Amino acid sequence: MTIFPSSFDPATRTRWDKLLGEVVTIAAKHPDAVFASSLAAEDMLLLHAIVQTQAPIEVFTLDTGRLPAQTLGLIDTIADRYGAAVKAIRPDPAAVHEHVAQHGEFAFYESVVLRKACCAIRKVEPLRRTLKGHSAWITGQRRGQSVTRVELAESEFDPVFGLQKYNPLAGWTEDQVWAVIRALDIPYNPLHDQHYPSIGCDPCTRAIRPGEDARAGRWWWEQRASKECGLHAGNLKAIDAQT
Ligand code: ADX
Ligand code: SF4
Repeated sequence: MTIFPSSFDPATRTRWDKLLGEVVTIAAKHPDAVFASSLAAEDMLLLHAIVQTQAPIEVFTLDTGRLPAQTLGLIDTIADRYGAAVKAIRPDPAAVHEHVAQHGEFAFYESVVLRKACCAIRKVEPLRRTLKGHSAWITGQRRGQSVTRVELAESEFDPVFGLQKYNPLAGWTEDQVWAVIRALDIPYNPLHDQHYPSIGCDPCTRAIRPGEDARAGRWWWEQRASKECGLHAGNLKAIDAQT
């Protein structure tokens, strides 16, 4: 059982209790379920729930080779705090080498095509490789994060990677996430305190300015509102239908 301060918002407390139950149910239904953690706030909350319930769910992060030091530092913090291991999945070195040799270290700034090619090598292929043979994966996505996620289901079949996909935080608000993080003293990426609500690779993420959308700092040089990197390509169908 989780002890919250007596003043804690009852709706958020109910959400948290429900989340603990959901994590246990997913693990029971899919003993091979894996959790993809970007080590962002939502994912730290989910990790805490997995550790608290002792659900046998393996946690991995896609270490693209371009993650900020603060993000990578969390892997050690998690080991210290929870005694839990986060498996770092890396891209195929030959594919990275070839892409960089051909297009340069910062090709993603040149065009959306080259940016997506980089994401495909550093994120999507490693994710596909990691999910292969598993029956379910879990993400920390929320509906409130992006126009591409407004219709996000808590559970859906992922046609891109061919397995069940759980988004147990789909209905959570940002405030609820942070209320639990603060109440339970869950460790988080220090960049969140420096105006980085959404964090990806270092060269592709900047701090946001007051009033900007939470994802404005991701691939900030691109104009399209529907910015996704391919991990959640299924989310784009709602947007593509409108454009
Ligand atoms: S992204 O597609 O734009 O990069 P975002 O940063 O919003 O995604 O994260 C949404 C969810 O995708 C995370 O909660 C996590 O489940 C998964 N995810 C994103 N980046 C990674 C990563 N580097 N490693 C593992 N999972 C990730
Ligand atoms: Fe490459 Fe940027 Fe995509 Fe990271 S977010 S994989 S650096 S294009």
